[in-house]
Amino acid sequence: MALHSLLIIGCGSIGERHLRCFQRTGRAQVSACDANPALLETMAKTYQVPTFDHWEKALAAQRFDAVVICTPAHFHIPMAVRVLQQGCHVLIEKPLSQSMAGVDDLLKAHALSGKQASVAYVLHVYPLLIQAREFLRSGEFGPIRHVTSTSGQYFPGGRPAHTVHYSQTYYRDRKMGGGAIQDALTHTANWVESVVGPTDSVLCDCAHQVLPGVTVEDTVNVSARHGDILVNYTLNQFQAPNESTLQFNTAAGSVKIEFHHRRWGTFKLGDAAWNWRDVPPADRDAPFIAQAEAFLDQIEGKPSRLCSLEAAARTLRFNLAALASADAGARVHCDRVIA
Ligand SMILES: NC(=O)c1ccc[n+]([C@@H]2O[C@H](COP(=O)([O-])OP(=O)(O)OC[C@H]3O[C@@H](n4cnc5c(N)ncnc54)[C@H](O)[C@@H]3O)[C@@H](O)[C@H]2O)c1
Repeated sequence: MALHSLLIIGCGSIGERHLRCFQRTGRAQVSACDANPALLETMAKTYQVPTFDHWEKALAAQRFDAVVICTPAHFHIPMAVRVLQQGCHVLIEKPLSQSMAGVDDLLKAHALSGKQASVAYVLHVYPLLIQAREFLRSGEFGPIRHVTSTSGQYFPGGRPAHTVHYSQTYYRDRKMGGGAIQDALTHTANWVESVVGPTDSVLCDCAHQVLPGVTVEDTVNVSARHGDILVNYTLNQFQAPNESTLQFNTAAGSVKIEFHHRRWGTFKLGDAAWNWRDVPPADRDAPFIAQAEAFLDQIEGKPSRLCSLEAAARTLRFNLAALASADAGARVHCDRVIA
């Protein structure tokens, strides 16, 4: 099959990773676009790709099969609408946006386009999560009653050394999708929603505790309701160990996922120990290559394995409700978010 022509808009930390990972599929001819000329030069030299300094000029100059949007969140919706109107498939980085403005227009543009659109909540391609969700959906342990999520990592350590310091990126400003809720917690919330359904309401507390150079929250606690299921999230972006544990509890047993040990397990009522299933170690690009393959499969007509626009819009409500709850010191219902 001919290579898919693909444009990456925004070649910062995650855009460069997408560029490299789509190249590594061997199924795409990738071009790069960024507003930063020095970065573009690095992309051209490192990956031998054609470059564009303006996304609209790029779309006018060439017909791309698909576009991957990796700019900060406040650009995602206007860019995605335009890309779909141009007749290209689109993969949008998370979060879908930092406000509900334009979400309905995007859904309409998608419906009219006949093109594929997904949001790059990369947890959807993690093998241990796919296996654990399949088990949870099998109903063997009965209905989920309680979910706990504890995670943390040293956020500055995750960015490649040659990229702009995190304190100078979108991360510093909630209006650009910054802070722990929109940047990190959104991944877990989106995946938990894929298991237990949309979040109804949240009670959130958050604060800036440690990260230098920024004032946005780097630490967050959320108590959420998904129908009659209670969910608790706790996360920070400064702790030394990069660890993340998710546990789903039913009356008959529990399912635990330990990202840092690359394993998930079951513990049935009456058992004496966890029954673990290990997944093989993988490098940091592996899930992004898997995500690229899934997106290319999707544009070739196979069923989507990635997060839909509608699911990402629901998680956007979670993000905004959590921010509003923290600001108000009160529980906020996700369907009442209007921002
Ligand atoms: N899925 C993940 O694991 C993951 C990881 C990191 C970031 N992200 C998300 O990806 C997005 C980008 O994050 P990042 O860390 O790569 O940010 P970044 O600041 O490192 O890179 C963003 C790039 O976009 C470019 N840009 C900004 N406006 C532009 C425009 N109008 N036209 C062309 N280029 C433009 C900037 O010059 C910059 O190079 C955010 O939404 C973030 O939440 C996702």
